[in-house]
Amino acid sequence: MNKIWIGTNWKMTKTIEEGLSYTEDLKKIAENVSSAIELFIIPSYTALVSIKELTSSSRIHLGAQNMHWEDSGPYTGEISPRMLDEIGIDIIELGHSERRQYYNENDEDINKKVLAALRYGMKPLICIGENIEHKSNNISKETLASQLKVCLKGLTDEQARNVMIAYEPVWAIGEKGVPADAGYVAEIHTYLRKTLENLFDHSGSSIPLLYGGSVNRENFLNYIDITDVNGLFIGRSAWDTDSFREILERLEKHLYG
Ligand code: PGA
Repeated sequence: MNKIWIGTNWKMTKTIEEGLSYTEDLKKIAENVSSAIELFIIPSYTALVSIKELTSSSRIHLGAQNMHWEDSGPYTGEISPRMLDEIGIDIIELGHSERRQYYNENDEDINKKVLAALRYGMKPLICIGENIEHKSNNISKETLASQLKVCLKGLTDEQARNVMIAYEPVWAIGEKGVPADAGYVAEIHTYLRKTLENLFDHSGSSIPLLYGGSVNRENFLNYIDITDVNGLFIGRSAWDTDSFREILERLEKHLYG
């Protein structure tokens, strides 16, 4: 697998205006980024329609931060796959730890959303990750295997080709997060790859596995050389385009000289 996926979820940070200006900058930066690097941004819902107009003439993939699994119905405050499909969204981020923690999303819900996204030809980016209790009780792998199995339940080998997984240990995310040790990430990603290969005969070896959790300018190169790391999912360090530009330029140099 040669492609590297690099992207950012803006969480609840940017207004439409801020998002448009960011995207204009990123489009310029993207012109110098190798086509083997797949770039994506995941703005808030309010900015998606305007930002789509900018990204459609670029190679930046556009994602949404969540969605409901039903096409339509009495679910106040929710956004359906049909609505996101109408905008032309490529990627649906599902199961971020903040969704799990603050909105009680569970693997069963995520599984329904994954199947709904695939029905519309959108690519689910499924976030999994153990919390600090799992880690200290030495049940990280069991926790991750269970998240993978339930989130991917019922997918055919063919459908699994279209999903991406982001491994984001909960203890590594955000201001209070501690970036994971590269050796630990390598061990976990090898395990995730094996688990995917056991779940899917053909596509298990090609599902992109991204790492996320306090990835920054200082540490990103430690992760990118790990065999089963096929990309990075970056929060804070990609929210300003100068910092994201530096990461992309150094990555480009590191990978392609
Ligand atoms: P962070 O966010 O890079 O700011 O830790 C990562 C994430 O939540 O995906």
